[in-house]
Amino acid sequence: MKKNSLDDYQTPPSALDPLLPYLDKNKIIWECASGKGYLVNRLQQEGFKVIATDILTGFDFLTKEPDFDFDIIVTNPPYSKKYEFLKRAYELGKPFALLLPLTILETEKRQALFKKYGIEILLLKKRINFITPSGSGSGSWFATAWFCWHLLPNQINFSEV
Ligand SMILES: C[S@@+](CC[C@H](N)C(=O)[O-])C[C@H]1O[C@@H](n2cnc3c(N)ncnc32)[C@H](O)[C@@H]1O
Repeated sequence: MKKNSLDDYQTPPSALDPLLPYLDKNKIIWECASGKGYLVNRLQQEGFKVIATDILTGFDFLTKEPDFDFDIIVTNPPYSKKYEFLKRAYELGKPFALLLPLTILETEKRQALFKKYGIEILLLKKRINFITPSGSGSGSWFATAWFCWHLLPNQINFSEV
């Protein structure tokens, strides 16, 4: 992995605020690329049961079958593997919310996935200041949204917070 690549950026817990109203507290959430655990900690504080895995702790989301029960995948995946994460999430067949750059909408290959399975997008009011490996803010130089499946009421949803 390249030093200081986007794959190393962590998500500030506040990025979950727009998504929380759509997550059922009785469901088990799988954070499948949990990194330093910012999203895991926030979800646990909110009262969710969370399973946290990461390739750094030996669980490759793209190749390993989960041997635990889960209901919803929630993560900000490594952006160098965004197509692979999206495809894998669809194939696992459970509801998911992936925080992805808006550019995921580009290219015929990715659009083929959206066409085949459907997609629900939660647009954010502001860009997210991701946490860089040095601990500073990223300066919000690209826009993201929560790309969801079987979670949101509409194909396009606007953040209320
Ligand atoms: C952009 S960071 C996000 C971390 C965390 N989800 C967050 O939002 O703060 C991406 C994480 O994906 C992990 N990762 C990369 N490839 C993976 C794979 N194939 N399976 C599971 N985790 C992976 C990296 O180790 C890194 O921790």
